[in-house]
Amino acid sequence: MDVSLIAAITIDGYIAKDSKHRSTTWTSPEDLHHYVSKIKTADVIIVGSTTFNTFKKHPKNSTWVIYTSKPNDFINPNPSVITTIPTNKPPHQLLEELSAKGYSSAIVAGGASIYTQWMKSGLVNTLHLTVEPYLFGNGVKLFDHDLGQTQLQLVKQELLNSSTLALEYRLSR
Ligand SMILES: NC(=O)c1ccc[n+]([C@@H]2O[C@H](COP(=O)([O-])OP(=O)(O)OC[C@H]3O[C@@H](n4cnc5c(N)ncnc54)[C@H](OP(=O)(O)O)[C@@H]3O)[C@@H](O)[C@H]2O)c1
Repeated sequence: MDVSLIAAITIDGYIAKDSKHRSTTWTSPEDLHHYVSKIKTADVIIVGSTTFNTFKKHPKNSTWVIYTSKPNDFINPNPSVITTIPTNKPPHQLLEELSAKGYSSAIVAGGASIYTQWMKSGLVNTLHLTVEPYLFGNGVKLFDHDLGQTQLQLVKQELLNSSTLALEYRLSR
């Protein structure tokens, strides 16, 4: 299974001011386009319930895995547009189950708790990071736990507009 991670970050490494801060209020239209094009290529999009609740719209026919401690209580807010798979399973177990169902690619789309759990699992192959021209100074960091000294290789860089840089990294393993 191909597993990538996608995030928009400030220059100082934050993904939000707080857990209710919607990304599209500060990221560029070009990044939204980049983000939507990437998530559309994945078979499933993996998010935490807090992040899922910040979205107002979803690409048609997309499949969302939503992490929540109460998967049995989860209700798909838009069943005519999206498929939802609520879960509380660890990354390895979830990936085995998704593979068995025929899914072959997944994109981890936040927030910080989900990015961290998936990076720690060692299952992520690729990172798509968009650096937006902001400094927050404090807020929600991309990762919220120690990741040792994880080394990455830059494989692609693209200016999305005059100030927004999209970077693609592979994990060096
Ligand atoms: N800039 C970006 O690219 C970007 C991308 C994504 C998100 N964000 C921002 O990040 C913020 C949200 O991040 P966050 O870290 O606070 O929240 P989050 O990771 O989106 O969601 C946290 C929730 O996920 C569930 N969860 C997490 N781990 C779980 C596990 N192992 N088992 C079961 N459920 C689990 C829990 O849901 P329950 O409470 O339902 O149990 C938990 O409260 C928002 O401001 C959002 O806009 C930014």
